[in-house]
Parts: sequence; structure tokens; C-alpha cells
Amino acid sequence: MSYQKEYQSSIEDPAGFWGDKAKLIDWYKFPKNVLSTDEQGVERWFADGELNTSYLALDYHVENGRAKQLALIYDSPVTDSKQTYTYRELRDEVALCAGMLKQLGVDKGDRVIIYLPMIPEAAISMLACARLGAIHSVVFGGFAPPELAVRLDDSTPKVLLTASCGIEAKRIIEYKPLIDEAISLANHKPQNVVVLQREQSVASMDNEGDLDWAESLNQATSADCVPVLGTDLLYILYTSGTTGKPKGVVRENGGHAVAMKYSMKAIYDMEPGDVFWAASDVGWVVGHSYVVYAPLLYGCTTIMYEGKPVMTPDAGAFWRVIADYNVQAIFSAPTAFRAIKKEDPAGELAKLYDITCLKTIFAAGERLDPPTYEWLSETYKLPIIDHWWQTETGWAIASNLFGIERMPAKPGSSTMPVPGFNIDILDDEGNVLGPNEQGFIGIKLPLPPSCLTSIWGDTERYKESYLEQFPGYFATGDGGYFDEDGYLYIMGRVDDVINVAGHRLSTGEMEEIVGKHPMVAECAVIGRSDELKGQMPMGFVVIKNTSATSTDETNSEIVNELVQMVREEIGAVAAFKEALIVSRLPKTRSGKILRKTLRAMVDGTEHTVPSTIEDPAALDEIKALL
Ligand code: COA
Ligand code: AMP
Repeated sequence: MSYQKEYQSSIEDPAGFWGDKAKLIDWYKFPKNVLSTDEQGVERWFADGELNTSYLALDYHVENGRAKQLALIYDSPVTDSKQTYTYRELRDEVALCAGMLKQLGVDKGDRVIIYLPMIPEAAISMLACARLGAIHSVVFGGFAPPELAVRLDDSTPKVLLTASCGIEAKRIIEYKPLIDEAISLANHKPQNVVVLQREQSVASMDNEGDLDWAESLNQATSADCVPVLGTDLLYILYTSGTTGKPKGVVRENGGHAVAMKYSMKAIYDMEPGDVFWAASDVGWVVGHSYVVYAPLLYGCTTIMYEGKPVMTPDAGAFWRVIADYNVQAIFSAPTAFRAIKKEDPAGELAKLYDITCLKTIFAAGERLDPPTYEWLSETYKLPIIDHWWQTETGWAIASNLFGIERMPAKPGSSTMPVPGFNIDILDDEGNVLGPNEQGFIGIKLPLPPSCLTSIWGDTERYKESYLEQFPGYFATGDGGYFDEDGYLYIMGRVDDVINVAGHRLSTGEMEEIVGKHPMVAECAVIGRSDELKGQMPMGFVVIKNTSATSTDETNSEIVNELVQMVREEIGAVAAFKEALIVSRLPKTRSGKILRKTLRAMVDGTEHTVPSTIEDPAALDEIKALL
């Protein structure tokens, strides 16, 4: 099959194409209604199909010859432990965990927040929710209590599942005090908090509704799979937008299962029984899709790795895991590969292991910069695939479709649109641009299966955020261009979202927090380039009554306080460590802060000063400070 043929048929007849791909999964009731429009005018996939994602990921394989195959391997250098689960064992654990949730009153459509580190129980509880038709919302362990509180209030979960601690390379993070603080900040209180006690730090269970995970499981009996509609929700995953309030991206069961299964062959060129490793955290979309759901839906073995690419214990960690478990494909963020490159530039550590099993290296989460691409390619002599993603889509929008037709790679490009994604490059007014013209990246509606169909509880916000800027298109928030061969280049966000070490963050949210400091008059936060983490946030802050009160000492105290505030409000992952105190911000005459110019100045890249600038001296001051 050629890529062009597959792609064209997905664009010319989306319903025919996806109706055919729907046969990849074992529905309880096969959908007749492949593509429909709901009462809000949003296109939906497989509305009358019935399925259960957990059944498809586990029971189906147990019933079809994979009962004894490994489904999940847990490898934890931070606790020096390993554990494996066959498909049968994982199915039984999931059924019991679902029984525990059911006993706590969790029913189809109820929400459950999962705040867990990279341990098997994270995948088990996600699949347990799916088994009951409940909607999970996983919150990344690096988020601070106020972020968790926002998610509690927005998703109003019945139950919160957590562990006593997470383990980072250099420290143990006690989760329970963070959970207790989040619940005290939130208006919505979950009925129960179920805590998995880990020996590295045992949590005190003082609050009404606190339950011990092991005891609760002991009292539970296994629960069966509950059939849900194709359009019923599997999960909500919050992601950063341009404002302080994160967006609850919703994922529907039917489209998700079909797209996940299709992608394992089309994009990753895997076969059932292969070992697939996404070195990502389940708190991010890559973790949802490619640590948990897609590999299991496809009958692969997946790996949950509780460690880092470096430091646990060294930059050979990835290659050790690949050799130990016979991994065929690895998927991680460019920042992880840059961290390895920094520690082991000659790739000596990989030579200590037999990694001949590895066929391909996939990267996403941020642009795979050409130097890192070249280094990976030359050092490991393997195909390196950069593919472009968003939480909103749940799977790659553009990739080298290795399972369909292998294209020659072009460093810096994420190759071509994935079938189903009809991409145009648009100017400000929505006109379609030609090859090598850079603009906004829009995806023509209908979006293919798995993409969001709303923001949890707020379809209007969904329409405003994504559908109104360019009628007939989904606005991705990314900018880029096609070259003359149809290769797509993603050049970065066109909004206030930044990507720090593969973690998506909002500079708008950071500005809101910095602006709360009593001494701050106004501020701008931008993402500056960083060799390791891709981008790092940097603040420009105007202090109230500067001339009267400011000294270098008080300024540095204020900066320290701002750093602390962002850490306490968003979490350590925000990595906000740098702010410059300035006397004024560069603005246009209409008052718009010149963030793009600031970014270019900090990065030392070429920029023109807009003629609409209000006070050019503001830029001179910043130039002198940099
Ligand atoms: N729970 C609690 N804290 C966490 C955390 C978690 N799950 N993950 C990160 N943090 C903390 C870190 O401990 C660190 O805290 P510190 O400021 O006290 O040191 C801070 O958040 C920043 O973390 P990070 O950005 O991860 O930096 P790092 O120096 O610890 O590690 C990398 C750098 C490159 C090794 C690491 O960022 C990495 O592996 N990134 C890949 C990300 C990824 O997989 N993204 C998914 C998309 S595919
Ligand atoms: P997230 O929703 O956390 O997956 O982040 C999505 C954003 O990350 C996208 O909008 C892009 O800005 C960026 N991104 C992800 N993958 C790539 C890639 N391969 N190339 C360029 N940018 C990427």
C-alpha cells in the first residue's frame, strides 16, 4: 500500500475509510453510524457502536491466545524493582481494581482522578475505570496542589486514587500532604481518597474518606466490563491553554480505540507480540496513548519505566531497558535524547548492551531539532522518526508512516500528514498558503477519530478555542509550513503555550501567578530556547514604584519569591527560575506586549522592531541587561 493512496482515501471519504478501520476492533455492537453530527454541531465518530476499551486491551487478548504473553513490564531503577504481568494477570488485577471502585460507588460516567507515579497501579486503575465505563483523569505527579484543586473542581470526581509517594532521581515526594492540601483548596471534595502505601514513605491516613489501597482491594470482588457507546468518554486529560485555566481535553472510547490500534501498524510498524516502549509519564498524553492503551489494544508488551533517561543511574538507562526486555521500538521526547547526548556524546554506554532488537526510535513532544536528529541517527544507526502530536488529537498528526510506506527522512520535518488529518497552512485571514510559506497550521474538519470533541463541560470554550479562528478548520495553535515535496515542518506555537522538557506549560498562567505578587506592576513571561529542555520560561517584571524602593538586593529577593510562587502554584515542572526586573515592558502603541521581539532578543535571533513600538528605549534597556 502506498502512503498517497492510503492518505487520499482517508481525505476523500473519511466515513468509508474509518468505517473500514473500525473492523480492526472487536465491538459488542458494530457501529452503523460511522460519522455523525451531534446537536451542538460537532462531528462524532461511531456514535451507535458499543464497546469496552478495557475488554479490547485485555480480555480480548486473553480469549484469543495471548493469556500467557507479557502485557506489562514494570522497571523501576529508583526503587530497584521489577515486575511483570501477563495479559491474564493484568486482566485479573484490573478486574479487581474495577471491583474496588465499584464498591466505592463508581459507576459508568463517574469521574476518577488518578494521581500516581509510574507504577503498574497507574495503568491498572486507568484500565479499571475503562472497565466500568467511568472516566479517568490522570494528573501528572509533578503538578502542585493548586493545579490538582482546579482539576478536582472541574471534573468533580467521586474517588481519587493515589500513592503515598512519588520517587524522583534525587528525592522522594510525599503525595498525601499534596492531596490533602489540594482537597482543602478545592470546592469539590471526592468521597474517598484511596492511597497505595509505598515502603519508601508511608502516608498518614487522617481524613474522613481516606482508604488504604491494599485493604480496599482485599474486600473487593472482580468487576465485569460495562459496554459503552463509541462516543462515551474514556478520559479527560487537562492541558495548558493560553489562560490560567487548563482545558479538559475529552477522549471518546470508540474513535480512540480504532485510531490507537490503526496507529500501531501504520505509524510504528509494530506487530502484535512485539515489545513497545514509550518512555513517557502516564500523566501526559503520550503516556495515555502509548504506555497504556495502544500497545495493549494491539497485543504488544508495554513497559512502565519509573526512572529518568539519565541519573538513574546513568545515560545508559534507556539502552539497558531496551536490551533487558527486547524492545523493538522506543518513543521518547527529544529532551530525553538531548540529556543522554550531553552525558554520553559518543554513545559509549549503548555499546555496553545488546540493542540489536531495536528497530526504530520515535520522538515527539517538541520539535526534534536537526542536531539531535543527526546525533541519534549517526550514533545508533537506526531510523529516527520525528512525529507531531498534541494532547488534543491523542495521536500523531504528522509522521513518517513506517508501517505503510517508508519515506526518506528530512531532518527538522515531521514528514507527512497521518491519514485522516487534512492539513492546510493558513494566513491571518484563513487563506491557504503555498509551499514554503509559513503560517498557522489548520486541520480541516472533520477531525479523524480520537481527537477531542469538546472541552469537559464547556463545548462553547471548545468552539471558541479551536474552531472559530478559521471556520471549517481546527486551529492547532502551531505554526509551520510544507516544503515543495509536501514535507511538513512544525516551527513552534503561535500562542502562549511553551514546551519545557517535553512538558506543555502556559506562559499566560505563569504571568497570572507572577502578577499576584504585591510588588509586581506588570510582567511578561516568554519561552526562551534552551539547549537541553528545548524551552525555559523567562520573566520580565516591572516592579511597583521602582525608583523609590528598588535596590539590587530587594530585586533579587523579589525574583526568588516569584520563582517560589510559580513552583508552589504550578509545580516543579514549570522550571520557572529566571526573571529580569525592568523599568518597563516593550509594547506597541495599542498596549500589546512585544513577546515575539523579546523572545528573539533573548535567543539572539534576527528580529525587526515593529514600527508601532511605543517606547524603543524599553528594548535598549533589556538589551543591556541580557
Ligand atoms: N513528580 C514530581 N516532580 C517531578 C516529576 C514528577 N513526576 N517530574 C519532574 N518533576 C520535578 C523534577 O524533580 C524537577 O524538580 P527540581 O526543580 O526540584 O529539580 C522539576 O520537576 C523539573 O523536572 P524536569 O523538567 O523533568 O527536569 P529534570 O532535570 O529532573 O530532568 C530530563 C530532565 C530531560 C531528564 C527530563 O525532563 C525528561 O526525562 N524529560 C522527558 C519528558 C517526557 O517524557 N515528556 C513526555 C512527552 S513524550
Ligand atoms: P502536548 O499537548 O503536551 O503533546 O504538546 C503539544 C505541543 O507540543 C504541540 O502543539 C507542539 O507545539 C509540540 N510538539 C509536539 N510534538 C512535536 C513535534 N514532533 N514537532 C514540533 N512540535 C511538537
